[in-house]
Amino acid sequence: MSRQAAGRVLWLTGLSGAGKSTLASALHQELLSAGISTELLDGDAVRENLSKGLGFSKEDRDTNVRRIGFVAGLLARHGVTVLVSAISPYEDTRREVLSKLPNAVEIFVDAPLETVTERDVKGLYLKAIAGEIAHFTGVSDPYEAPSTPDLHLRTDRLNVAECLELLRPLAGLRTEVTA
Ligand code: ADX
Repeated sequence: MSRQAAGRVLWLTGLSGAGKSTLASALHQELLSAGISTELLDGDAVRENLSKGLGFSKEDRDTNVRRIGFVAGLLARHGVTVLVSAISPYEDTRREVLSKLPNAVEIFVDAPLETVTERDVKGLYLKAIAGEIAHFTGVSDPYEAPSTPDLHLRTDRLNVAECLELLRPLAGLRTEVTA
C-alpha cells in the first residue's frame, strides 16, 4: 500500500461569531485555487447532516466534535487538507481529538464576548441574553479557551486579510504578495 503523507488539519475553535467560518471558507477557496485537495468541516453544516439531531449539552457537543475529528482523520489520511470550524468548547475533548490526528494544529479564533455580541451575525446572542436560547456558548454555557493554541487570532484587532496571512503557512500555502 502506498503511504501518502497525512494532510494537515487546521482546527479553528472559538465563540460563535468570532470569525471561524469566515476564515475557514476564505482559506478553503485559496487552497482550491492553488489546486490543493481540501475539505471544510463547518459546525453548522455538520449539524445539518452528520450530527443532525444533536443538541448542545456537553455530551452532544463532545459527540459532535469527536465525529468531526473522525472524519477529519479519514480525509487527512488521504492527504486532504482539512479545515474544521466548530466552537468545540471543551479543552479536554479538543485535546483528545487533536492528539489522534497526526498533523493537526489548534487555532484559537478569539474575539471578546462584547465584540461577538455586538456583531451578532446570526442574531443569536440577543436571543441567548434574553433567555430564549438555553446553554448558549459564552452566555449561558462554557467556552474553555485553548491554553496552548498553535495560533491565536484576535479577530477584533486583525482583519480577515491579516488573519489569512498568519493562517496560510499553517495550511501549506505561501504567503501572498499582492502588488
Ligand atoms: S459545538 O459546540 O458542537 O462545537 P458547533 O460549532 O457544531 O458547536 O455549532 C455551533 C452553531 O450552532 C453556532 O454557530 C450557532 O449557529 C448554533 N447554535 C444553536 N444553539 C447554540 C448554542 N446553544 N450554543 C452555541 N451555538 C448554538
